[in-house]
Amino acid sequence: MKNRIALVGGGRMGGAMLRGWAPLADQIDLVVCDPFPSPEVNEIVSAKGWLLNPDPAAGAKFDCVVLGIKPQVFATVADQTVKHLIGENTVVLSIMAGIGTAKIVEHTHAPHVVRAMPNTPGQIGKGVTAYWCSPTVPTPTEELAKSLLRPLGLVEKLQSEKQIDVVTAVSGSGPAYVFLLAEAMAAAGEAEGLERALAERLAWQTVIGAAALMEETGQTPQELRRAVTSPEGTTAAATDVLTAGGGIVSLVRRAVETAIHRARQLGK
Ligand SMILES: NC(=O)c1ccc[n+]([C@@H]2O[C@H](COP(=O)([O-])OP(=O)(O)OC[C@H]3O[C@@H](n4cnc5c(N)ncnc54)[C@H](OP(=O)(O)O)[C@@H]3O)[C@@H](O)[C@H]2O)c1
Repeated sequence: MKNRIALVGGGRMGGAMLRGWAPLADQIDLVVCDPFPSPEVNEIVSAKGWLLNPDPAAGAKFDCVVLGIKPQVFATVADQTVKHLIGENTVVLSIMAGIGTAKIVEHTHAPHVVRAMPNTPGQIGKGVTAYWCSPTVPTPTEELAKSLLRPLGLVEKLQSEKQIDVVTAVSGSGPAYVFLLAEAMAAAGEAEGLERALAERLAWQTVIGAAALMEETGQTPQELRRAVTSPEGTTAAATDVLTAGGGIVSLVRRAVETAIHRARQLGK
């Protein structure tokens, strides 16, 4: 029998999940709830014979309700839509930052909740998602939630719900840290006399190539960094500046701490 899935919120992350589920059409029956679905969401839903914006009050219950909405609209959408989709075995799979399990249960009355934190490379199947669920969630229910996260990339299980805020700060926001580094490298190249477009191509491709090297060789960042850092050489001179007095290491640590604090504030 096919699993019945409802996706509430088909934006960037929800849309990426939907794209990843398209090849699973023989295993799942899907409805999407989103008042303004993108043309891509519309196209996937109609190509697969899935359903868009059914009346939530019509009584249909789902095996899994995926929450891809913004945390700010959660309470309203839970009341208007989500709670009507919940049956006695439904699992709510939430990718919302900052909204905890207790709040999700309070607003939806879901018997099971899995919280997950994906990141934007999930849009191309290269993301990493960490999830947490209470030990009371039955294994087949957890497996269903995991199977819906896999199209986004690597899936990791957490030991406690509190770790979700750390994941948000490390890998959820993490792509922005890498993009910022690419921007800073390009700006430095331009400041030192390269034409802007060339500086950007050099910096951006360096980030792409470095990530691909890590993936393809399986070597750690430390090993790869040591391999390009000859003693007294130019890379050593530059990384000495980046790490002086704690440098980038302590800065990233502070950034992550601040993001964790912000995630906890947003969840209140
Ligand atoms: N982007 C990230 O890097 C990232 C990473 C991890 C987790 N998350 C989490 O993922 C969630 C979605 O983020 P996103 O970047 O995908 O946001 P997004 O692109 O704004 O997607 C949210 C979607 O929900 C729709 N929506 C609004 N009101 C709705 C309603 N009443 N019923 C159903 N759908 C409704 C929005 O439609 P409109 O656009 O028309 O309002 C939009 O399509 C957030 O909770 C965020 O915390 C995001």
